[in-house]
Amino acid sequence: MKPDIGISNKHINNSVEILSSLLANEMILYVKTRKFHWNVSGESFMELHKLFEGQYNQLEESIDEIAERIGKLGSKTIGTMSEFIELSSIQENPGKYPNSKDMLKDLLSDHENIIIQLRKDIDESADKNKDAGTADFLTGLMEQHETISWVIRRYLN
Ligand SMILES: [Fe+2]
Repeated sequence: MKPDIGISNKHINNSVEILSSLLANEMILYVKTRKFHWNVSGESFMELHKLFEGQYNQLEESIDEIAERIGKLGSKTIGTMSEFIELSSIQENPGKYPNSKDMLKDLLSDHENIIIQLRKDIDESADKNKDAGTADFLTGLMEQHETISWVIRRYLN
C-alpha cells in the first residue's frame, strides 16, 4: 500500500530508485571496508584496522536506515547480493590486496563519489520529487560521508 503523504506515486518511485542505488553503493563500500579491515598490514596496522572497523559499523547503520526509508515510502527493499552489485557504481577489486595507503585512497575516492552523487540526489529529491524528507535524510548521510572523507584525507596528507 502506497503511503498517502502528499507525494505523487511517480515521485515516490523516483525517491525509491535514488535510495535503492544508494543502498547498493553503501553495501559494496561496506564490504570493501571490511575487506580492508581484515587485510590491512604495516606500521599502522592496528590504527587502520580499528579505523576501518569504525567506518564499516557506521556504514552498516546507514544501510539499515536507507533500507527502512524505502519501506517508509511504501516500497519493497532490495536485499540480494546480485541486486546490490547490479545497481552499484562502486567497483570491487577481487583478488587485489593494496597497501594501506592505496586502501585509504580507494576508500576516499568511493566516499567522494558517493558525496557527488548524493549532492545531485538531494537537489532532485527537493526540487523535482518534492520529497523534503528524503532530501533531508540524504543531506545527513552526505555529511557523514564528508566527515569520513575528511578523516581519511588527514592520513594521506
Ligand atoms: Fe574484526
